[in-house]
Amino acid sequence: MEKLQFARHRRLRQSANMRALVRETHLHTDDLIYPLFVVEGENKKIEVSSMPGVYNISLDLLEQELDEIVELGIKSVILFGVPNDKDEVGTGAYHDHGIVQEATRLTKEKHPELIVIADTCLCEYTSHGHCGVIENGNVLNDPSLQLLAKTAVSQAKAGADIIAPSNMMDGFVTAIRHALDEAGFENVPIMSYAVKYSSAFYGPFRDAAGSSPSFGDRKTYQMDYANRLEALREAESDIEEGADFLIVKPALSYLDIVRDVKNHFNAPIVAYNVSGEYSMIKAAAQNGWINEKEIVMEMLIGMKRAGADLIITYHSKDVARWLKEN
Ligand code: PBG
Repeated sequence: MEKLQFARHRRLRQSANMRALVRETHLHTDDLIYPLFVVEGENKKIEVSSMPGVYNISLDLLEQELDEIVELGIKSVILFGVPNDKDEVGTGAYHDHGIVQEATRLTKEKHPELIVIADTCLCEYTSHGHCGVIENGNVLNDPSLQLLAKTAVSQAKAGADIIAPSNMMDGFVTAIRHALDEAGFENVPIMSYAVKYSSAFYGPFRDAAGSSPSFGDRKTYQMDYANRLEALREAESDIEEGADFLIVKPALSYLDIVRDVKNHFNAPIVAYNVSGEYSMIKAAAQNGWINEKEIVMEMLIGMKRAGADLIITYHSKDVARWLKEN
């Protein structure tokens, strides 16, 4: 019989070591950014009902959590604040003794080398739950920028290593860059939520942070998930305004966008594996329907393969543990 001509792809798959030799994409603990929700009060460690394994933690119990994170080899955290008091203009966001500012100080005191990323937004601090100032039911752009810039400066003063604005007002990067530079923080980078879609995948986060809008939705400032080219426009203007990192958010249903942004810009790309993506995995795993470890690794490697350099993920602690075991 004549010898058939075809490629023998299986040559490179025949053993674990052969597969390791030709593996193209790797996930390291260094790639992970772990989100933390800090609350006011004492002795609180309350599990978020829609996010098993994720807690609202008060400052006195934060230290223990940070020790565990550092012990696992995780090098950066992103802090979200859940204040007791909210008002129309989100005063708690830019108060020098606000919850995130205090959590930042504590973290940098206990673990100076741990990178603290401060999420810079107003929605957790406003009584109406929107990410900016409201007038006649509209979220105003420019007045919101001033408050956001104030928030960023107070976070940098408290010791934040990176500022991560997430409110999707136009011009937020330039407003924050300008304010940071004026205040002497020209070395503090901006990790911009450049490409942030209006998404139902943020539902569990809003349970955790108590930040659901009391009226309307975020569609006038967050992006329409049907749009792909708009992502490039958003990323482009943020780079021009001085962003040092670009976040694409959510991640799982947006891997095409991660790749597009990676192909067009040479800043580090961050995929935000958001709350709803985490909750779906946890719920299925708790039902015994999926292999949690295998699924999480496949999903996060998929994000890296799509072009993410870093991943913000609630799975960070588990992943760091699994990577240690290997
Ligand atoms: C604040 C903010 C949100 C998330 C991160 N920063 C919520 C929102 O925009 O409604 C979502 C993160 C997640 O779902 O894990 N604006």
